Amino acid sequence: MSKIQSPSSFDPRNSKLRETKPSASLEAAQLARDLRAQGRRVISLATGEPDFPTPDHIKQACIDALAANHTGYPPVPGIPALREAICEKFRNDNNLNYAPNEVIVANGVKQIIFNALAASLEPAQEVLIPVPGWVSYSEMVRLNGGVPVELPTRYEDNFRLRPEDLEAAITDKTRWLLLNNPSNPTGTIMSEQDIRALAEVLERHPHVMVLSDDIYEHIRYGDVPYFTIAQVSDAMKERTLTANGVSKSWCMTGWRIGFAAGPAALIEAMRVYQGQTTGGVMHPGQYGAVAALNGPRDFMDSNLAEFQKRRDLGVKLINETDGLECHVPDGAFYLFVKCADLIGATTPAGNVISTDADLTRYFVEEAEVVCVPGAAFGMSPFFRISFACKSEVLEEALLQIRAAIGKLELKTKEA
Ligand SMILES: Cc1ncc(COP(=O)(O)O)c(C=O)c1O
Repeated sequence: MSKIQSPSSFDPRNSKLRETKPSASLEAAQLARDLRAQGRRVISLATGEPDFPTPDHIKQACIDALAANHTGYPPVPGIPALREAICEKFRNDNNLNYAPNEVIVANGVKQIIFNALAASLEPAQEVLIPVPGWVSYSEMVRLNGGVPVELPTRYEDNFRLRPEDLEAAITDKTRWLLLNNPSNPTGTIMSEQDIRALAEVLERHPHVMVLSDDIYEHIRYGDVPYFTIAQVSDAMKERTLTANGVSKSWCMTGWRIGFAAGPAALIEAMRVYQGQTTGGVMHPGQYGAVAALNGPRDFMDSNLAEFQKRRDLGVKLINETDGLECHVPDGAFYLFVKCADLIGATTPAGNVISTDADLTRYFVEEAEVVCVPGAAFGMSPFFRISFACKSEVLEEALLQIRAAIGKLELKTKEA
């Protein structure tokens, strides 16, 4: 029997939580806030949220819902109007047909993913996560008693998951494959061909379900087409949960509204879990989301044009900085920057930069810029910057990083 601790040594965390890392991107954003509160002029390139406000027509729909007293407990899986709008979205954007009982609304894609895992994972089942991947996936799997299995990708392949690596990682215990397209942190977009190649592997392993996190679907540059794995075949659709939301593309991160479509039995399991934990999502916010999904999208074009300018500026500044390099991302609003040449360097204070976390700490101290180390995404030595900030701020931050790198004494390369 485990011994209950005395109050003086009380640690409220259970063994699962003791192993859980806090979200690195949220922690980095908090560090920037704390340093600012101390009077330091810190620039944060840590958080993944658009700096544009929610469009007015969406805000107005929420205000109207409040005025109409839609303030009671909402239905757990989402108000009917929103579930209908989600079905329409999947039909129009992705050529996927779902009935309202095959969709669910939750507090962000974050809660969708957590609930899907909570509702379906048995202890010690494995979840395959291509890395680099979003900071929360592995921790959510662990919190739900599963085992995260990282599938490394390569910088040289622009971080595309290779079908042979997927095949090699599947075991009898594999329950889920998590896909994220476009990817956070790399911005890579898998093509239809890439996705069909993965589906070919998955078709040989019908016990594996797929969770496709498509939250950055509409943040794509140029004319890069979009394809999601449930579109491959009815067989794939029957074991895929496609998650999406309004946070990023509709500039609604703080509204906490995400949704998913998938097999009715899984949606029902998620509804039961959600009904016993948080219940339905705040009522007026759901009316806002209806206006978002059914409303005009022209604001996205101007937001994207602005993001693209910042992306190009960021890529140029990074690749002109000694010791750093990055690809041009096709989607999302991040650069995943390779910094291998700076590992082993010595700071002016005489500290050796041994990891990407050491480097991002050095950037905070010397450049007053907060970034997220690649280790948080399962791949080192890299760091992630978000370019969802004004161009002037991005430029200032990257020039300060360049100046800080200029003060490092680089490790001489062995002959
Ligand atoms: C890949 C990915 N999935 C999900 C989320 C969370 O989305 P939401 O705001 O809908 O919870 C994020 C947010 O950063 C993300 O980057």
